[in-house]
Amino acid sequence: MFKTVFKQYKVKSTSPDLSDVVSFDEIDDKPKEDSIAQRLSFNNEITDLPTFPGLKTPRAWQTFVLKDHPGLLVIRNPFTDHGQRYWIARCLRDYPRAPNIVNLNARLFDESVRSDWWKELQECKDPTERQRIKAAMRWTTLGYHHDWDTKVYNELSKSPFPQDLSRLCQVFASYLGYHDFKSEAAIVNYYPLGSSLSGHTDHSEPNHLAPLFSFSFGQTAIFLIGGRTLDEKPTAIYLKSGDVLVMSGESRLCYHAVPRIIQTDESLASLPNETALENSNLVDNDLFEQVRDSNYWNPFSSYIADSRININVRQVLHPGDLKLN
Ligand code: SIN
Repeated sequence: MFKTVFKQYKVKSTSPDLSDVVSFDEIDDKPKEDSIAQRLSFNNEITDLPTFPGLKTPRAWQTFVLKDHPGLLVIRNPFTDHGQRYWIARCLRDYPRAPNIVNLNARLFDESVRSDWWKELQECKDPTERQRIKAAMRWTTLGYHHDWDTKVYNELSKSPFPQDLSRLCQVFASYLGYHDFKSEAAIVNYYPLGSSLSGHTDHSEPNHLAPLFSFSFGQTAIFLIGGRTLDEKPTAIYLKSGDVLVMSGESRLCYHAVPRIIQTDESLASLPNETALENSNLVDNDLFEQVRDSNYWNPFSSYIADSRININVRQVLHPGDLKLN
């Protein structure tokens, strides 16, 4: 069932029928008994959440759940345009740098590209080579590095987890009542138009009780969420730029996939009037300022004009554990 639905959306020759894809922008506030998605209301605790650069006030966030997928939540774009610019720039300029690990193959790319992909891409003058470098980047891993073959984390394969990303996740974790969440591993996925990610579960982490936070930026994804086996029919939802998907509880170990990326026209607003960041240690203040400038922002903007970026953050260890057993 899962694979059939995946193929329906992935199909290249024709445009797929998108009428069953859930769009959270079309869910109204009054819950209907038969609706597959519903908006949650949070009233009290959210006013206690600390403010975070680049996030809208939590009172303005819209959080949705799916009737048939308990534990799966989508917070519909809680970022300001400025905040989105910052995270996109982090994912392109900084996160693919050594000691983080990237997919770029040593037989196809020299060390300079593999250790600082974005810098080499910006400096490359040959259009064909530029396109080759751009399209080759598919993932980078942070913290405990995901091992794609064994699917087992290793204490010896780990780099420092970025503090800004860890603090961002803490805000969402606290919003949902997971006050002890620790960001310990992340995969940043890069999706050029035409790419996809087939059905899988995320079970490498010893800790399955902690939620998984997944951030979408750039072009829109069709995301499939299924059940614990491939026999169950998945639900298709749109994940748009800025959306935060949370896989917790029952959905944490469910099959999911991205069969298609859809190009939309939306671009992130220019930011002449946004207030300057008060000096905080929550984000890279220099970059936060730099992305306001349209000249600085242009190369990032042109990357996401035909690509999607996803940051997928997990807790690996059980509470109280300091390392893998
Ligand atoms: C993943 O499951 O690893 C990525 C999901 C996404 O790109 O939204």
